[in-house]
Amino acid sequence: MLDLLITHATLPDGRQNMSIAVQDGRIVEVTEGLQAPAHEAVDAGGLLVSPPFVDAHFHMDSTLSYGQPRVNESGTLLEGIALWGELKPTLTHDAIVQRALQYCDMAVARGLLAIRSHVDTSHPSLLPVEALLDVKQRVAPYLDLQLVAFPQDGVLRAPGGLANLKRALDLGVDVVGGIPHFERTMAQGAESVKILCELAAERGKRVDMHCDESDDPHSRHVETLAFETQRLGLHGRVTGSHLTSMHSMDNYYVSKLIPLMAEADLGVVANPLINITLQGRHDTYPKRRGMTRVPELMAAGLTVAFGHDCVLDPWYSGGSADMLEAAHMGLHVGQMTSQAAMRQCFDAVTVNPAKLLGLEGYGIEPGAYADFVLLHARNPVEAIRLRAARLGVWRRGKRLASSPAPVAQLHLPGRPDKVHFTSN
Ligand code: FE2
Repeated sequence: MLDLLITHATLPDGRQNMSIAVQDGRIVEVTEGLQAPAHEAVDAGGLLVSPPFVDAHFHMDSTLSYGQPRVNESGTLLEGIALWGELKPTLTHDAIVQRALQYCDMAVARGLLAIRSHVDTSHPSLLPVEALLDVKQRVAPYLDLQLVAFPQDGVLRAPGGLANLKRALDLGVDVVGGIPHFERTMAQGAESVKILCELAAERGKRVDMHCDESDDPHSRHVETLAFETQRLGLHGRVTGSHLTSMHSMDNYYVSKLIPLMAEADLGVVANPLINITLQGRHDTYPKRRGMTRVPELMAAGLTVAFGHDCVLDPWYSGGSADMLEAAHMGLHVGQMTSQAAMRQCFDAVTVNPAKLLGLEGYGIEPGAYADFVLLHARNPVEAIRLRAARLGVWRRGKRLASSPAPVAQLHLPGRPDKVHFTSN
């Protein structure tokens, strides 16, 4: 007898009436119309079953701290960084752990089962690092938490910045981070990229840097990141996060840059909710959107993900661990409205970030882990349109969360008494 059988599922690639058979935590068969006895049987009723959502860019050490010690009045990135600096001395291990665990509860309910979180390594005590390593262990049975050593105050600009980052890696942080645009000069930023990529190559680590999170069209650290990636043979292991300066760059320069990024097989993470909020703050009108050139990067063959980045923290007052919200915003900001582009927006919160994180056994196919989400939508485009309810969330074949389908009661003469929001 199977552990779990899902029937009448629609898959993200459009296949319908599919059955997904699960045994011992793995998918053993994906085929049309299969019926078999199972301990748990779920009729998807033609709705979408997707592999879980993946967030390639988050800050779990600051999440759910909104308003502590005060609110970001200007709404800028730099005031957010200053505010985080005010909050840091008051942080405790337990407070970070409790906020992070609360966020992971939300994530699981939203079918978000893998998160790459940056963790600030600037504090000499490495308090946030130790707290999130604790969280990583505690959530491991139900959520993959990958940590990036993120030198918020700069590796060269802040005294001890590089040493603290190395200590974080020694403690077990997975990925090398960076923030070249926050170093004192362009030259120091480029130097930081070189140092950090060499460190990653030495230690066999992946790289994911906050890179060019700026409206300055001359912030070109992504060029150095691509160069160092190919020089050190780190192809496919390096991600540039944000890359918002690309929004403002000269088109001729970008026509040279994107092929260099493709040559290095650079990963890209745009954070639409945050980019549209923080960028363009020095503009009057027209105001720039700030998001990097997502459709053009995808067309060049780069792996592009949408990250959530922030939820209720010094930089952002919204969010609820819903990657469909990030996809929805990305679709709008990037004007990705063709059918193919809308489907790419769904990939940008599922398969693409899974690739950037290097997740094993991801996907709905025989041999993969039995991790998936039943969405109250007929297809990926509808899932984004509705920010569809997660009717069921499974990991390793075990149900972790359930939510009801949203149905409104209507009180209108001559009209149905209920309204659903799906297409049929
Ligand atoms: Fe970030």
